[in-house]
Amino acid sequence: SDPDLVARAAAAKAKLGDRLFVLGHHYQRDEVIRFADVTGDSFKLAQQAAARPEAEYIVFCGVHFMAESADILTSDAQRVILPDLAAGCSMADMATAEQVERCWERLEDLGIAERVVPVSYMNSSADIKAFTGRHGGTICTSSNAQRALEWAFDKGEQVLFLPDQHLGRNTAVRDLGYSLEDCVVYNPHRPDGGLTDEELRSAKMILWRGHCSVHGRFTPECVDEVRERVPGVNVLVHPECRHEVVEKADYVGSTERIITLLNEAEPGSAWAIGTELNLVKRLAAQHPDKQIVFLDKSVCYCSTMNRIDLPHLVWTLEALAEGRVPNVIEVDSDTAHYARVALEQMLALP
Ligand code: 13P
Ligand code: SF4
Repeated sequence: SDPDLVARAAAAKAKLGDRLFVLGHHYQRDEVIRFADVTGDSFKLAQQAAARPEAEYIVFCGVHFMAESADILTSDAQRVILPDLAAGCSMADMATAEQVERCWERLEDLGIAERVVPVSYMNSSADIKAFTGRHGGTICTSSNAQRALEWAFDKGEQVLFLPDQHLGRNTAVRDLGYSLEDCVVYNPHRPDGGLTDEELRSAKMILWRGHCSVHGRFTPECVDEVRERVPGVNVLVHPECRHEVVEKADYVGSTERIITLLNEAEPGSAWAIGTELNLVKRLAAQHPDKQIVFLDKSVCYCSTMNRIDLPHLVWTLEALAEGRVPNVIEVDSDTAHYARVALEQMLALP
């Protein structure tokens, strides 16, 4: 990366001192992640958001829904800043508040809403999190989805899982022992969700029809191909991958879990990783004693995570150092209240 930009980012960061707290998700570029005070998966970053109450500015190097969650979990005096406002998430955009309300009305009309507990993936808008809090549900991330579902099934008989069908299905089937037939997929683009009354009544898991465009690119053929190419390889994938891919893998885990597994891996072992490419490249560089390859043959970055680049970070930090506060992410107080209920429920999961 441009040495001049690196020096400018470092100078602005030094000038801001303790007034600034920089959080970075593992999928961020190397040129950005080097300036993060804390790096993590979405769960760790949600936990850490409130770790520096004295910091006036929290610069979130990640995507919009993460910055919203940080705003919800921190004090009103703290400002959360997203270096590029176009850093969204296509999965989060797959569930709008209107669509989810329509789905809930259908469940109410059927007389089953009382026994359905909403569980929403962190990768959702603040509106969806607020819906979840209003209806007694919880947020989850890929590192606590099992505990979130166990909690929800203790509380109710059915789960409405938003918006990632793959994380919902993989967790229900792999970790809780439900069958694929226990899961149905609600299509928000169909007036009836594409499901009959009977299907909705009898399902254990009502999965929203959303997915991650990055993890959705891994196929079972990628797993077969890498096993042929790299004998003895361990295949490790993120639970946002399709069920057929997860079924063929040796290990499944959130980004933080992937990092831990590789730290614990034997020197000389071979690993094919099915998650975002910035992280996989960084892991390969950090573990020269292991063979770490990307599960797909094509390039697979998250384009919105990648929007946060060094020029955007420099622009943000220099503005803050000069007393201007750009790109503030602020969730309105009513939405924030109910979204916090659902986020705090997640943080309190056993
Ligand atoms: P985790 O951070 O929970 O591993 O999720 C990955 C992801 O897709 C974030 O957008
Ligand atoms: Fe969204 Fe997938 Fe990118 Fe994560 S990796 S921010 S889920 S599109």
